[in-house]
Amino acid sequence: MAQDYIKVQALILLAIAMAISCHNSVGASMVFVARDSVAVLPCVMSSPTKHSTAVIWKRIVDGEERTVWRRDKSGLEFRAVGQASKVYCPHPNFGSSDFSLHIQETREEDAGMYRCEVEGQNPKNVMLYVISVSVTPDVVYEGGRLTLTCNITPHTSAKTTKWELNGSLITSRSSMLTYTIDKVFQKDAGTWSCLIGSKQTEAKISTLVQVRGILVPKDNSEVVYAQLGSSVTLPCIFSSELYFSSSSWNRVSKMSNLPDKLPSSFNVSSNRRFSLCSSMGVDRSAYIESVQNGDEGTYRCSGAVAADNGMNIKVERNIQLVTAQVLSSHKNGKTTLTCRISNTSQVINYEWIHVGYGVNNTQIFTSVQNSSSKILSIPKDKHLSEWVCRFYNKQQLLGNATSHLQMMSGLEGKQQATSVNKVALIIGLCFLVLLLVLILLQLYKNQRRRKMIFQYPAMETIVHLAANEREFKERVKAREKVQSGANLKSELV
Ligand SMILES: *[C@@H]1O[C@H](CO)[C@@H](O)[C@H](O)[C@H]1NC(C)=O
Ligand SMILES: *[C@@H]1O[C@H](CO)[C@@H](O)[C@H](O)[C@H]1NC(C)=O
Ligand SMILES: *[C@@H]1O[C@H](CO)[C@@H](O)[C@H](O)[C@H]1NC(C)=O
Ligand SMILES: *[C@@H]1O[C@H](CO)[C@@H](O)[C@H](O)[C@H]1NC(C)=O
Ligand SMILES: *[C@@H]1O[C@H](CO)[C@@H](O)[C@H](O)[C@H]1NC(C)=O
Ligand SMILES: *[C@@H]1O[C@H](CO)[C@@H](O)[C@H](O)[C@H]1NC(C)=O
Repeated sequence: MAQDYIKVQALILLAIAMAISCHNSVGASMVFVARDSVAVLPCVMSSPTKHSTAVIWKRIVDGEERTVWRRDKSGLEFRAVGQASKVYCPHPNFGSSDFSLHIQETREEDAGMYRCEVEGQNPKNVMLYVISVSVTPDVVYEGGRLTLTCNITPHTSAKTTKWELNGSLITSRSSMLTYTIDKVFQKDAGTWSCLIGSKQTEAKISTLVQVRGILVPKDNSEVVYAQLGSSVTLPCIFSSELYFSSSSWNRVSKMSNLPDKLPSSFNVSSNRRFSLCSSMGVDRSAYIESVQNGDEGTYRCSGAVAADNGMNIKVERNIQLVTAQVLSSHKNGKTTLTCRISNTSQVINYEWIHVGYGVNNTQIFTSVQNSSSKILSIPKDKHLSEWVCRFYNKQQLLGNATSHLQMMSGLEGKQQATSVNKVALIIGLCFLVLLLVLILLQLYKNQRRRKMIFQYPAMETIVHLAANEREFKERVKAREKVQSGANLKSELV
């Protein structure tokens, strides 16, 4: 008994399957077409027909046949009144084998069964499905819910459905006519497409979904790199419909939930409106004129608005500021540079570039090291050059920092100069002191000598007198000699 029951069930299933396949072979090809596009209903004969073949395209509505397009043996074309302007057959030439019917701007009311009848051939049935996509709610907000629905007319279960965003397949939750996102993020914005069809034909229908909220940055993963001392912009652009005046910036402290102080040169741009791709934005980006040590960390841009549905929504973005600088150190006559980045979690490569100067002061960049090492040993001859550290993640350049070696060496030079001056000063001072000591010594000597003379005043007079007497005697002697000489001469003359 049980076996019979199973047999009966199997037979019934087989009958149903046959009915479906029969229906399919009779109903034949299925065509899926996106609303508003051109539908092509195939009717291709295996061999070219003789000239002046009669062709009739019919539509079957509730078992009734209505002619849509017809060509007589004489070559005259006829169109039905209703669809007349939209329906045409582009290949009704003599010797053609293709009598496919084209329908422009296909609408849901065009969907249904069509039949192509060519004289002397088996009629061909074509089922036309029209698909469209709808988005609910009409206005999508960040954090809200989004439902995409692919509508298919007439309804059918014999199809496969796929969903794409910006041309990329969304793998999860496919083969469903509805796609729901419970919590919408900015990354869910874009061109959504529903792909539906069979093996033979596939139709794609797309719709643009905009998400009101903060358009830039799209999520909390934004990291901005800035060299110490340079200026930086922390981006924050609201959808123009969303933004009222209630936006603010603050700092998110690592340690506590208390906000840190904003940098002194922190400045939020005025509500400049501008077009951003397909949507309008209001710029509330922040600007730091000169990034200082300690400014690194997370900043938060937030805004609160009343949505169309009366609900209050708060949107916010965290933006991380990472600072970079080149530090130099001198040891044993060697100079090394270190590329210091306040958060290296994204950095995987450091490129060191030597900056030279050519004709007309044009900069010449020469890459000297490209590795995971943040340290560079500088050759002696390049000691006074400028160096740039470029840092990369896996895909791209993140930022750069420039050494201020020239400035530093300048300072060093100055320091050396001052030390030289000091030495000179010290030597000079010593010399001065020595001179002073010598002078004092001399003065002291003179003083002592004078004191000694004052002790024996007569002695000096005696010495003086003795000297004078001796001089006088010598002079008299000399005069006598000259006089005797002159006398001798006169005697001889
Ligand atoms: C899709 O493109 C839109 C704009 O063209 C963009 O805003 C959105 O982020 C893109 N989404 C993805 C997932 O690529
Ligand atoms: C802030 O930036 C605006 C331009 O964006 C500028 O006009 C203004 O002077 C800046 N204010 C300060 C204090 O830097
Ligand atoms: C460093 O950056 C990563 C992401 O870029 C972040 O997750 C991490 O918290 C940061 N570390 C610090 C100490 O800020
Ligand atoms: C240098 O500058 C001068 C004038 O500014 C120009 O004529 C010349 O072509 C420049 N030379 C180079 C190599 O760029
Ligand atoms: C250095 O490495 C980065 C990342 O690997 C790469 O993008 C860059 O082109 C390299 N530079 C040179 C000069 O090879
Ligand atoms: C360093 O970064 C700045 C700003 O991004 C850029 O203008 C400059 O050309 C970069 N310098 C080098 C040597 O890469």
